[in-house]
Amino acid sequence: MTRYHSFSVPYHFLAFLVCFILVHASPAAADKPTELVDKVCNQTSNYTLCVEALYSDSRTPDADSYTLAFISFGLAYTNANNIRDYYIAELLKNTSSQDYHYRLETCSHDYLRAVSKLEEAYNDLNSETFFGLAELAGIASEASDHCQDAFKGISSPPLGSRNGDLKRLCEIGAIIAKLFTGSS
Ligand SMILES: *[C@@H]1O[C@H](CO)[C@@H](O)[C@H](O)[C@H]1NC(C)=O
Ligand SMILES: *[C@@H]1O[C@H](CO)[C@@H](O)[C@H](O)[C@H]1NC(C)=O
Ligand SMILES: *[C@@H]1O[C@H](CO)[C@@H](O)[C@H](O)[C@H]1NC(C)=O
Repeated sequence: MTRYHSFSVPYHFLAFLVCFILVHASPAAADKPTELVDKVCNQTSNYTLCVEALYSDSRTPDADSYTLAFISFGLAYTNANNIRDYYIAELLKNTSSQDYHYRLETCSHDYLRAVSKLEEAYNDLNSETFFGLAELAGIASEASDHCQDAFKGISSPPLGSRNGDLKRLCEIGAIIAKLFTGSS
């Protein structure tokens, strides 16, 4: 059985939803996560955030590991794409500092890399190819680290919390990926 999923969903809306939930999540969202979600999120650096992120998708309560993989990589993809297309693009327009502009361009490239790797992961999922997923999630996560490094020495890096969000979504994806490859 093959279930095709695509990005044809209105992901601008989804991205808003994800950001909203990451910022404003209520503890109620963490009520009774499924055994699978519990098992996955228990391995992440922030259990609550993981549960809240996954439960931002209405499929999660009934999701098997395959669907949960689509959900987690979809969330990471949407997040990275939205940050690049809207947030970084707007910051670039807003700045008149050459130095700041240069740093932002670095982040823009980093997020482009993240988006492309997460898209590759999504395509892999569609073809039920699992072995490369954790690595792709890792590369996307490193891209957010690289962006964070680009603002070293700047007291309030403009993408600070957003880099953290992407990192944690990638972490969830990498853990779910390991459910398929058996390594842990
Ligand atoms: C969660 O992780 C802890 C240790 O990290 C472990 O003791 C516990 O059994 C785990 N719970 C579940 C539901 O996997
Ligand atoms: C985990 O995430 C929640 C929700 O975003 C946040 O309130 C909390 O401070 C985080 N905990 C840690 C240890 O980072
Ligand atoms: C860009 O500048 C406008 C006008 O000053 C401001 O409203 C907006 O919040 C800024 N965007 C970002 C991402 O900082």
